[in-house]
Amino acid sequence: RSERWSMGAHIVLTQPIHADQLERLRAGGHRVTALESPRGLSAAELADACRTADVLICQLTDQVERRVFETTSLSHVATVSAGHEHVDIAAAAEHGVLVTHTPGVLTDATADLALALILAVTRHLLWGDRAVRRQSGGPWRLLHEPMGLDLSGATLGIVGMGRIGHATALRAHRGFGMKIVYTARRPHAAAEADLGAVRLEPERLLAAADVVSLHAPATAETRHFLNTATLALMKPSAVVINTARGSLIDEPALGRALQRGVIAGAGLDVLENEPAAHPELLAAGDRVVLTPHVGSATARTRRAMAAMAVDDVLAFLAQEAPAHPVPG
Ligand code: DGY
Repeated sequence: RSERWSMGAHIVLTQPIHADQLERLRAGGHRVTALESPRGLSAAELADACRTADVLICQLTDQVERRVFETTSLSHVATVSAGHEHVDIAAAAEHGVLVTHTPGVLTDATADLALALILAVTRHLLWGDRAVRRQSGGPWRLLHEPMGLDLSGATLGIVGMGRIGHATALRAHRGFGMKIVYTARRPHAAAEADLGAVRLEPERLLAAADVVSLHAPATAETRHFLNTATLALMKPSAVVINTARGSLIDEPALGRALQRGVIAGAGLDVLENEPAAHPELLAAGDRVVLTPHVGSATARTRRAMAAMAVDDVLAFLAQEAPAHPVPG
């Protein structure tokens, strides 16, 4: 490898990253092709862009499918994201391509956004903002509608107690006095000891929770975890929050459940077909609060994600073991 890259490697970047990180790549003597795609690249576009590339630094909107590995001689794909379902990990492994990602650094920012959405939905912030702007809120009244939900004493159901699920539970319990139930493949000892979290089967969690917050990865198993049948298990007063991946929810089914009052509200940072929201969701009006996949979008977190991806690329090109490989 060192011989192959003695003259520097060719690195393709699909989107702009922070100038100092770009400079670190160039300072290593590497040739960088910095694309400025305003949207994710298809597999065909990636294959074309990476014809002479050794390393691809990509984003979660890029489709790094099998054909990218079959038609290029890439050695390393570094996705600037924690999630890696947009990369065909099996195909990468078959072609001996290392894949790295950026776990951990976006935990706090994403958990913060989950709390922001919980508050926005349960305290009707969209309605309130519009009422003030339109001067339709009226004077203070004791029996004001819509009434909000008290988080203190309410039950938060965490689906997927990984880093972000745990950070969300911690904020909700310590900051807002919520009770925590969770569903996960394995018990989470710290959440049980420190937060009194109780592990439940998914069906029981859905029936018990006032707020259901999704934190599971996008896999075939988690696809449409919330659908017409599972939404019907929830309380009519309950709300669902998704800062994980859009594929966890059958979006038209959720839209219809909101319109029919099967559940009370939803706060979604992620969608099945980003950036488009399904018309049934939009038809649910103020019952759903939408944000455009901004869980990690704080200045510090995005800098840390870029730096982590570049650290791993430079380590790889220096023949050291990158710290954040995705297991093949
Ligand atoms: C990730 O890194 O997977 C996040 O979804 C980006 O916000």
